[in-house]
Formats: sequence, C-alpha cells, structure tokens
Amino acid sequence: MARVLITGANRGLGRELTRLYTRNGHEVIACCRDPDARGADLAGDISWLPLDLADEAAIRAFPALLGGKAIDILIHNAAIRGATGGLAEVGFVDFAQVMRVNAAAPLILTHMLRPNLMAGERRVVAMISSRAGSMTEGLDPDGDYAYRCSKAALNMGARKLAYDDPELTVLLLHPGWIKTDMGGPEAELDVREAARGLAARIDAAGPKDSGSFRAWDGTPIAW
Ligand SMILES: NC(=O)c1ccc[n+]([C@@H]2O[C@H](COP(=O)([O-])OP(=O)(O)OC[C@H]3O[C@@H](n4cnc5c(N)ncnc54)[C@H](OP(=O)(O)O)[C@@H]3O)[C@@H](O)[C@H]2O)c1
Repeated sequence: MARVLITGANRGLGRELTRLYTRNGHEVIACCRDPDARGADLAGDISWLPLDLADEAAIRAFPALLGGKAIDILIHNAAIRGATGGLAEVGFVDFAQVMRVNAAAPLILTHMLRPNLMAGERRVVAMISSRAGSMTEGLDPDGDYAYRCSKAALNMGARKLAYDDPELTVLLLHPGWIKTDMGGPEAELDVREAARGLAARIDAAGPKDSGSFRAWDGTPIAW
C-alpha cells in the first residue's frame, strides 16, 4: 500500500483521486487551503493538512507538518484558471498568480518534499498538466492565456526535473476535459473516469516514463 500526497484534495479531480486512492486501501495525505471546509463524505486512511500554494513561505514550511514521513506518490493537482477572456484580459497580477500556483508551486513543493520522496518506495511525482499547455494541441478557441502559459511552463519545469533528477519518476498528465468547477457542466468526461485513468497511469509508471506527457487514457500528448 502506498502513501499518496494530493494537493487541491477538497474538490474536483483532487477530491476524486483522494476518494479513489483511499478506497483502494492506500493512505492519502490530502492537502487543501482550508481543511475545516473539506466536507464529510470521504472515508479511509486520510489525513488533512493545510497548504496554500500561492504562499511560498507555506510551501517551504510544509515539510515540517509531515514530520519526515515517506511519500510514495506526490500528485500536484491544484491549479487555477485565471482570466479566461483572451488577450484583452491579460494583466500582470492575474498572470503572475496563475504562474505562481500552477507552475512555480509544484516545482518548489517537489524540491521541498524530495527527502520524503526518497524515503518512499515509488518516488513518483505526477503533475496534473493540461493539453491546453501543448503548443501543438492546445490552440482551441478559449482565451485562457495565463492558464495555457502556466501549463506550458509546468511542462518545461517537469521535463527539466525529469532530466536533472533520474531518481524521481516525473509524469505530466492531462486529465481530459472533465466535469468539475473548472471544466464546467458541458465537459466530456466524468471526473471518476478521469481519476481512474490517471491512477492507472500513475500506478503503472516507472523510471522509463519519466518526462512523458500523456492523457488520462495513456494517449501521448505532443509538446
Ligand atoms: N477540469 C478540466 O477540464 C481540466 C482539464 C485539463 C486539466 N485540468 C487540471 O486538472 C487539475 C484539477 O482541476 P479541477 O478541474 O479539479 O479544478 P477545480 O475544480 O477548479 O479545483 C481546483 C482545486 O485546486 C485548489 N486550489 C486552487 N488554488 C489553490 C491554492 N492557492 N492553494 C491550494 N489549492 C488551490 C482548489 O482549492 P479551493 O477550493 O481552495 O479553491 C481546488 O481544490 C488542475 O491542475 C487543472 O488545471 C482540468
């Protein structure tokens, strides 16, 4: 059984991944901004910890909350979409916030938790990216400039990390267009199906997969 740390575990895909991993008998360290507002419908071996990924000091202090616990799988799930209205809405404040949460925070958190990952058995770092960050496939009509740039930046950061640190298995995963607050009700995919697909990718991953970018169903995504 693995110990899995998931960010943004309180709603959407993160909540579904938390439900799936605990249901399958794994231990989940579920992180979110406000654990007191997590809701009551999750059972199993789960502990909730506060983590605001827009707060660099909180990210750097976070390992102290873990007390040296080993982590087998680290899932960077939390993200924000930012302004969606196209170039007219691009501004420094929104753009920087989206880059901070979606691209910088997962990299800094991985660095801070590397000792915990090295103490674990799997050493898997799963970055929930998006096809929207693909230069080749991410050109659909939605605005989302900051979001697309942030996921492209995350992709580069994760590729670089996979290259620099062969002891980690670093995955970039696109969850599909899913019915969550971010994806909206028109989305194609049920969040449970996405979570099952992602967990299958994560559970089967080994060092040879490090630096790859795949969808929830295993389809490779072009950079
Ligand atoms: N939905 C889609 O169609 C889709 C498509 C491609 C990729 N993705 C990716 O899939 C992942 C999950 O998306 P989702 O659809 O589940 O999104 P969501 O429903 O909007 O949930 C986002 C999660 O991120 C958390 N979060 C936001 N800002 C945070 C911060 N500063 N610190 C800590 N947590 C923060 C939220 O917590 P709060 O409740 O505190 O805000 C929430 O738990 C994201 O990486 C997203 O980019 C989604």
